[in-house]
Amino acid sequence: MKQLPELHLGTINLPPDTITKCINILAKRGAGKSYLAGVLEEELAKNDYPFVIIDPMGAHWGLRELYPIPIFGGDHGDVDIEVQDGPRLANLIVDLKKSILIDVSHWDQDTQREFVTEFVNELYQKNRKPLHVIIEETDVFAPQTGGGKEGKASFKAIDNLVRRGRGRGIGVTSITQRASILHKNILSQADLNIILNMQANRDLESVKELLDDDGIDSKGRKEIMNKIKRFGKGQAMFYSPQWLKLTEPHHIRRRETHHAGSEPPLDGKVPKVKLKRLKKDKYIDYLNRDIKNADLEKEKQNFKTETVFVILGLFGAALLIGTFGFL
Ligand SMILES: Nc1ncnc2c1ncn2[C@@H]1O[C@H](COP(=O)(O)OP(=O)(O)OP(=O)(O)O)[C@@H](O)[C@H]1O
Ligand SMILES: [Mg+2]
Repeated sequence: MKQLPELHLGTINLPPDTITKCINILAKRGAGKSYLAGVLEEELAKNDYPFVIIDPMGAHWGLRELYPIPIFGGDHGDVDIEVQDGPRLANLIVDLKKSILIDVSHWDQDTQREFVTEFVNELYQKNRKPLHVIIEETDVFAPQTGGGKEGKASFKAIDNLVRRGRGRGIGVTSITQRASILHKNILSQADLNIILNMQANRDLESVKELLDDDGIDSKGRKEIMNKIKRFGKGQAMFYSPQWLKLTEPHHIRRRETHHAGSEPPLDGKVPKVKLKRLKKDKYIDYLNRDIKNADLEKEKQNFKTETVFVILGLFGAALLIGTFGFL
C-alpha cells in the first residue's frame, strides 16, 4: 500500500493521522503561531489533505500564493459570505470535498461566533471523511469565561467538535495567544501541544498544569518552562506524551507562501502578492443556488402571511359594514 505523506513542519515531521488529531498552538503575541499554522496549511495543501481554516484575523489568505484554495469572505475573498452561510459552507466542504479558507475578519466578534456555531454544528452532523479544522483565535469562540450567549453557543459547538469529532473524521487545530482564557475542555483534549515563546505568568501556569496532569515531575516542568520562556522566533516545544510520545523543542521551517499575518511595514509599503487564479463559478453557483432557494422559501412564507392578513382584513371590513349597515 502507498504510504501517505508526512507533514514537514521543520525539524519535525508529523504523521498523516495528524488530520484527525487535536492540536493546540499556544504562544504570546508575535511569537509565530499564525506563521506555524501557515506552514501546517502548506503541508496539508501540497499533500491534498482536506482542511478548512476559520480565520477571524485575515491572516491566512497568503496561502493562495501557491495553492488554489477558495477563499470565502474577507478582503481577498473569491465569494462574499453572509452570517447565515455557515451551514451552506459546511455542506460545500462535504459535497465538493474541497479545502477552503473562511475569512470572517470583516465581522464583529458576536457575528463571528454566530457564524462559527452554525458552521461547526452542521459540519459535525454531515462530515464522515478525514478533515482538519484550523481555528485562529480559538479563545474568541471557546472562552473559559464570558463571551455572552453567542460565546456560550460557539463554545458548545467547538467543544463537541473537539470531544466527539474523531468519530466523524474531524481533527482540530486551536490557536490562541492566551492559554489561560481558552476553555480548559479544549486545552486538555489536545493530542499535541505546540508551545512557542510565552511570557505571561497565567498562561505559563496553564501550560504547567497540563504538564502536571500528565505526571511530569517538578524538575521536568521547570526545564520545559525555562525553554519556552527563552524561545526565539520559529522555536517551539512539541509536547505529546501519548500520541507521538515526545516532549522536544523543534525549529519551524520558513514559509513558502506569503504570511499575511505579519505586521505592516513601517514605511507603509504593502508587499505585492500574486495570488493563484481560480475558477470560482462552481462555488458562487453552490452558494447562490441555495441562497436562491432560501429566497424562494422566504417569498413563499411572506406570501402566506400576506394572504392571511388580507383575508382577516376583508373579514373585518365585512363585519364592520354589516354592523354599521344594520344600524
Ligand atoms: N518559523 C519562523 N521563521 C521565520 N520567521 C518567523 C517564524 N515564525 C514567525 N516568524 C516571524 O515572526 C512574525 C510574527 O509571527 P506570527 O504572525 O505568526 O505571530 P503570532 O504568534 O501569530 O502573533 P499574533 O498573536 O499577534 O497573531 C512573522 O511575521 C514572521 O516574520
Ligand atoms: Mg497570529
